[in-house]
Amino acid sequence: MAVSLEVALEKACAQILDTSVLVRVVLSGRRKSMETEFERVDIRPVLIKGQVKLQLSHNDGRATTVKNIEPESDSISALLNGGYSNILVEQTESSMTIRITKSGEAHIGYEKKSLKQELTHDKKKNRLLDPSDPFLLEVGISDHKGSIKPSKQDKYLQVEEFLRLLVPTLKNAIEAGQIHSPVEENPLSIVDLGCGHAYLTFAAHQYLRSIGIPVEVTGIDIRTSSRDRNNEIAKKLGITSTINFRAEEIATTTKQSTDIAIALHACDTATDDAIAWAVKADAKLLLIAPCCHHDIQSQMQVSPEPWTGITKFGLMKERLGDLLTDTLRAQILRIVGYRVEIIEFIGGEHTPRNLMIRAVKTNAPPDSIDLTRYREICDQWGITPALESKLPAPFIG
Ligand SMILES: C[S@@+](CC[C@H](N)C(=O)[O-])C[C@H]1O[C@@H](n2cnc3c(N)ncnc32)[C@H](O)[C@@H]1O
Repeated sequence: MAVSLEVALEKACAQILDTSVLVRVVLSGRRKSMETEFERVDIRPVLIKGQVKLQLSHNDGRATTVKNIEPESDSISALLNGGYSNILVEQTESSMTIRITKSGEAHIGYEKKSLKQELTHDKKKNRLLDPSDPFLLEVGISDHKGSIKPSKQDKYLQVEEFLRLLVPTLKNAIEAGQIHSPVEENPLSIVDLGCGHAYLTFAAHQYLRSIGIPVEVTGIDIRTSSRDRNNEIAKKLGITSTINFRAEEIATTTKQSTDIAIALHACDTATDDAIAWAVKADAKLLLIAPCCHHDIQSQMQVSPEPWTGITKFGLMKERLGDLLTDTLRAQILRIVGYRVEIIEFIGGEHTPRNLMIRAVKTNAPPDSIDLTRYREICDQWGITPALESKLPAPFIG
């Protein structure tokens, strides 16, 4: 149902303030030409010293920040007017979704629900992946008692946080018509490039299917031992019809197309191979968390002035090399028709390689300034990013 924005936000505000039945609120997405303070805000009622407050939490990529506020209309209105394009309000017996279109119109949908209100203050973080799920045991993240192995805690969290970003991005892309709405006969194809032990590959398959998104997943890794191990696990789990593994180099894989390309820490220029393959495979969505960076760093022989002020410090030069690498990857993706963000997908305490390049294909032609900036950065530093060389020449005018 289409209504004016004002009416929609008033309805949302009223529902949020009805704390006797409120279960949770999620604000996400970004309205056209607006900046949101956070990528996503979760709100739920909590009971503190006998009084109901609203607990707001958001994650800046490093940590989750939580604050409790009074359920008052001014602060709720300010949040609702904070530029988010998707608003979900869940109550015990219904849920309301508001989607704000590019033209500023609001579409409201209602659904019947039967949800339980949970007012405890120190609620444990909802896990997407149950540690005792058989796939986590098989891939070696959990032990036989169904607990995450201490040595695998960081990988488990990386995979979970990766999924936490994949799912809303995917749903938004489906809603915006950038990716087809999948059905069992026409599932979404996902390719995990440099999948290694396939923690993420299996997690994406199991989790997306568990929430009703039909997917067909392929894991690609150069190592035959990975392929054999992973295919064996898929057999044990009885899921070989929708997940398979190949022992191939990313650059020369015979797989030719996909809807979604993911990569978690594919080493050095394997990340460039992954991005280049995804672009050529016409992937609509890319979620790429790069690993170590050596390519640009090894090319940074002479720093243009005044950057020697930074590069004279070895550590700073290395970090600048990392920044240039991922910035230029993102810039190339913009140039070839993707909307791109670089975000931190998990706190730095769980991996120093915590950036993610998230790109959605829009086919928007690049601004000439994007091309100019790209060329100028490369020329000033005398560098040619590996990704540029891996895309059909000339990818850039
Ligand atoms: C650091 S591991 C990450 C594995 C997995 N994605 C994870 O997060 O646990 C990188 C993986 O990329 C694979 N790899 C590196 N270069 C590759 C290439 N050019 N083609 C295919 N796989 C590659 C390696 O064999 C290794 O398994």
